[in-house]
Amino acid sequence: MKLSDVCDAGLKALKVGGVEDASFDCSCLFYDVFGVKRAELFLRDGEARQDKIDEFVSKINMRVHGRPLQYILGKWDFYDMTFFVGEGVLIPRPETETLVELALAHIGERKGLRVFDLCTGSGCIGLTLAKKCPDCDFTLLDISPEALSYAEKNRAACAAENVRIAEYDIRLGFEGLDTDDRPDVILSNPPYVPSGELPGLQREVRREPLLALDGGESGLDLYPVIAEKWLPWLSDGGFAAVECGEGQAETIASLFSPCADAEIVADVFGTERFVTLRK
Ligand SMILES: C[S@@+](CC[C@H](N)C(=O)[O-])C[C@H]1O[C@@H](n2cnc3c(N)ncnc32)[C@H](O)[C@@H]1O
Repeated sequence: MKLSDVCDAGLKALKVGGVEDASFDCSCLFYDVFGVKRAELFLRDGEARQDKIDEFVSKINMRVHGRPLQYILGKWDFYDMTFFVGEGVLIPRPETETLVELALAHIGERKGLRVFDLCTGSGCIGLTLAKKCPDCDFTLLDISPEALSYAEKNRAACAAENVRIAEYDIRLGFEGLDTDDRPDVILSNPPYVPSGELPGLQREVRREPLLALDGGESGLDLYPVIAEKWLPWLSDGGFAAVECGEGQAETIASLFSPCADAEIVADVFGTERFVTLRK
């Protein structure tokens, strides 16, 4: 069977299966298995190996059955890096890249800052920054051992030596950590979906860990924790930035206001998505 015929059959199966971005997903899976870009098939068409056809068919079937594309590929791009992902960890989202930009704008050329990434998941925020700011120290915390196994794998892949990763429930606060080194930068993308909205999420999103999505009844469970148990420890001149869901930013800004004036920042789509604070 020709490569182009295999590819066409895959695309058809995805479309019939109701996969939304069938064409994009087909291109990604085809490239993953055969190492040939769909757009180059007219130049590089040839006979497909049977074992590769079987692998492609199996991946197409997984996708048709609702497994997220990123979990099938086992990796996903974030900012200018690629992160290992799979069941048990949140897939890094493009809007979260703004959190990295906000932190970079604050850190600039400063050296020796202690940066905390609370609810690190795959480590995408903390590790991206750690590679860009080799003279700062990073602490990445998450409650989920499954998520942390990806963060560890990602740290090893990018050889970031300025990073400490620990299993930790952030509800215990900064005080619960065995350190006197107060944070200079606190970043977090905590779970923020209101529990009642979880059943209505896209089927792919529902395959992601509940722990990464469920923010309790209002979606805001962990923001008072950040406000009361982390921000008071921020060093003078320190900076914090958190991501949140649509319609949540104002409440979070008022939760943060006893520490310092908070600012609301929109994402690239114009949605109020981040709350920042300069102490
Ligand atoms: C929305 S995900 C963010 C993952 C990653 N930072 C990102 O932006 O892709 C939230 C993460 O918070 C973690 N988490 C949930 N509750 C936590 C808690 N009490 N303490 C620490 N981490 C928690 C989850 O395991 C999950 O990895």
